[in-house]
Amino acid sequence: MLNPFAKLRRAGVVGMNRRNAEYVLPNNPRKLYPLVDDKCVTKELALSAGLNVPDLYGVVRAPHEVRRLPRILNKQDSFVIKPARGSGGNGILVVSGRLGDRFRKPDDSLIALDAVFFHVSNILSGMFSLGGMPDKALVEYCVRFDPVFAEIAYQGVPDIRIIVYKGIPVMAMLRLPTRESDGKANLHQGAMGCGVDIATGTTTTAVWKNRSVDRHPDTMQAISGVRIPGWKELLRQSAMGYEVTGLGYLGVDFVLDRDRGPLMLELNARPGLAIQVANLAGLRPRLEQADDVAGRLQTNEERVVYAMQTFGA
Ligand SMILES: Nc1ncnc2c1ncn2[C@@H]1O[C@H](COP(=O)(O)OP(=O)(O)O)[C@@H](O)[C@H]1O
Ligand SMILES: [Mg+2]
Repeated sequence: MLNPFAKLRRAGVVGMNRRNAEYVLPNNPRKLYPLVDDKCVTKELALSAGLNVPDLYGVVRAPHEVRRLPRILNKQDSFVIKPARGSGGNGILVVSGRLGDRFRKPDDSLIALDAVFFHVSNILSGMFSLGGMPDKALVEYCVRFDPVFAEIAYQGVPDIRIIVYKGIPVMAMLRLPTRESDGKANLHQGAMGCGVDIATGTTTTAVWKNRSVDRHPDTMQAISGVRIPGWKELLRQSAMGYEVTGLGYLGVDFVLDRDRGPLMLELNARPGLAIQVANLAGLRPRLEQADDVAGRLQTNEERVVYAMQTFGA
């Protein structure tokens, strides 16, 4: 394991203060936040733009609706329950199957319906939500990941994060769940982040718990050189995140379903900065280049082609 930080400082890494002052504040008007801070709203928005998302099985909006859960879950062998206003993977319950009347989690442990009820009640109380406000619980389709990730994924669904600045995809990372992250691909839950070459969609370097690594901690598989299928289409869809929200600095998350292809999971108006560690590259030079050309690039296609030609490894 190497310490990546010395190299990163030279590479123009953007820190939290600069991200907020120079990129988030000027480009993300507060009035647009409701579009991305509630996953129900984001789903609608994506669908109206022709983007695919995991099917919604049901929404529990208030404590008296919790009794509807058995009916929502009845038809589903696998599903995901998440807080509408959650972040960082908090409060997400991934159920990958059933055994009798119990539910199987990605690590093969079993939970009873009572525990699912309890989890949903906690979501409604705001335990996992922005500002601790009362929340809704979404029940949705559990993604079955694309076989391209079979070798490197571990107990859960990898996701792809793309940072889009003024409509231009500038940096990307593939996040892989680990034993520790309990089926979720969020770095703060212990998932691993792999840099992705914007030109080709191929994985490069990786970070786990703030350290550079070159193998998955559980499977011990080398993680570089995996090519994400349909890469240009993913870039196109990420750039649409800008078109449909108007947010100038955005993190767009996708999962690749083996049957349904790319599904947009969420949009993030304050995307984290560890993507730079995963790529061993700073965002700053790319954001400055994007600033120079953003006014000239008119269409989604132009912005995607520019990104592929400019930010490749
Ligand atoms: N429908 C789903 N099917 C399978 N895994 C999912 C699903 N939704 C979320 N996950 C897992 O949980 C992680 C976090 O989900 P996300 O919707 O982005 O919420 P958050 O805002 O908490 O990051 C994803 O990266 C993925 O690994
Ligand atoms: Mg997410």
